[in-house]
Amino acid sequence: MNIVICKNYLEMSCQVAGIVAESIREHVDLKLGLPTGETPKAMYAELVKLFREGNLDFSETVTFNLDEYVGLSSVDPNSFRCFMNENLFDHINIRSSNIHFPDGISECFEDECQAYEDSIQKAGGIGLQLLGIGRNGHIGFNEPGDFIRDITSKVNLTEDTINANARFFKTPSEVPSTAVSMGIGTIMRAKSIILMANGDSKAQAVKEAVKGPITPHLPASLLRLHPDVTFFLDREASSLLEAK
Ligand code: F6R
Repeated sequence: MNIVICKNYLEMSCQVAGIVAESIREHVDLKLGLPTGETPKAMYAELVKLFREGNLDFSETVTFNLDEYVGLSSVDPNSFRCFMNENLFDHINIRSSNIHFPDGISECFEDECQAYEDSIQKAGGIGLQLLGIGRNGHIGFNEPGDFIRDITSKVNLTEDTINANARFFKTPSEVPSTAVSMGIGTIMRAKSIILMANGDSKAQAVKEAVKGPITPHLPASLLRLHPDVTFFLDREASSLLEAK
């Protein structure tokens, strides 16, 4: 695995946006796996800037988001779909038919999850998968546990994740406790993976992912089994990597 330590959040975001832009220029129909959350916001803002400056064309780009809350429709302001519209999709020339999201209000999640996997496969697989990391080491919403979920599944969120997500909701009771998430296998089948982490609160998870045992109890550690994965970190998130 490769590790790139950036001097701050903005530099990390611009470097990753630069790689995304380069990948889109090389492969116009790039299949891009996308995260939501606080971490990728400045990277999305940089992609929007590059588009507005005329340096990037998303007309053939195909996206697959990592996850969606169960119970929230795509127009719910707290849904990940709305987050993506506000932070990226509404500001670029991506075709709506090229945007893929798990359906949080499906009537049959088993079918929905299989259909999501099928749509990724039909598109030829994900070329570049971007990730954030949870404070507990989750990727997508694959929470720490005794086993590895291969494909997209309905998952229970841990209390730590529910608490971390509460900042996006008006009241803690509104935070969903389940989600639909790409599986670890879905993520690992991407050709190339970039994980971004910034801030002190991610330092321990980053340290365990990079230096600890490879285990589903720290899902991000499994990324070390992938042949092309790069962690982009700011100084705070990388601060425990040198410590014994
Ligand atoms: C979001 C996702 C999560 C987040 C992680 C970090 O789509 O899959 O794994 O990347 O929870 O969230 P932030 O960036 O808000 O700290």
